[in-house]
Amino acid sequence: MSLIGRTVRVRVPATTANLGPGFDTLGLALSLYDELEVSVRDAPGACVAVHGVGAGEVPTDESNLVVRAIAHTFRALGQDLPGLDLIAHNSIPHGRGLGSSGTAIVSGITAARGLLDGVVDVDDNRLLALATEMEGHPDNVAPALFGGLTIAWTTPEGPKHKKLMVHRGVSPLVLVPEFTLSTELARSLQPESVPHEDAVFNVSRSALLIAALTQSPELVFESTEDRLHQTYRGSAMPQTRDLIAVLRDAGYAAVVSGAGPSILVLCTSPAERAVAADLAVSSGESPWRALPLAVDVKGATVEFVS
Ligand code: HSE
Repeated sequence: MSLIGRTVRVRVPATTANLGPGFDTLGLALSLYDELEVSVRDAPGACVAVHGVGAGEVPTDESNLVVRAIAHTFRALGQDLPGLDLIAHNSIPHGRGLGSSGTAIVSGITAARGLLDGVVDVDDNRLLALATEMEGHPDNVAPALFGGLTIAWTTPEGPKHKKLMVHRGVSPLVLVPEFTLSTELARSLQPESVPHEDAVFNVSRSALLIAALTQSPELVFESTEDRLHQTYRGSAMPQTRDLIAVLRDAGYAAVVSGAGPSILVLCTSPAERAVAADLAVSSGESPWRALPLAVDVKGATVEFVS
């Protein structure tokens, strides 16, 4: 069946992973979005126009991450890749720990599924597997695909996820610095093994964090403690480490967002969030942008244009 002329529009949320103790497991979708329109054209190859974040920086040919995700999906589903025109409108900052690469991958996979609607069926587990193959770990791509709070885990059959709805009392604040940090560098600072005591510490906090985020927001401060990754990575982002210390000393549940260097603060009311934002903006030595965001509950969406 010819796909020429088909156009889909997709919208995919930013995500914050780890949430403190839930390293490579927990993720939350946030109300900040990248939007993409993809059309199948007659001529082979791909042409990408990027507006907003990444314009003039990211590749605009077949090496573009979104195009590679579309190609990966078509190949995995046994379909020939047609020629493509893409228009991206990006709002998610790059290299800041807000899941921008996962969002790009999910944008491509979701667009490919939309373009192949009626040709091949793809279920949620397959989507997550395709995204995780490209991203390497499932904790950002799961909330980008499905929205809400996600627990993601890997099995011999592939990655799986459970989506949970977040308690209305949770008000996320994201603090974005001007500097960037590569996830690869942050991951290289992780030790091969950790003390058993630290593993137990994180097991208890991440179990508690699920209760805090779904039922008992008053437990969010205690449940966002971590010994598995943040301390090891602190030397690569001292400003982040220092601002988290200031915020936690003042009683706010601040953690590194994903691999950093942004900070996620899980506040328990919009009023508390406003005070935390003021404290952060006035305390940081370098400038921080404060983004009060909602939890996105839908995840990736697709609209069929033609
Ligand atoms: N869990 C990942 C990490 C998230 O912290 O390395 C960043 O992609």
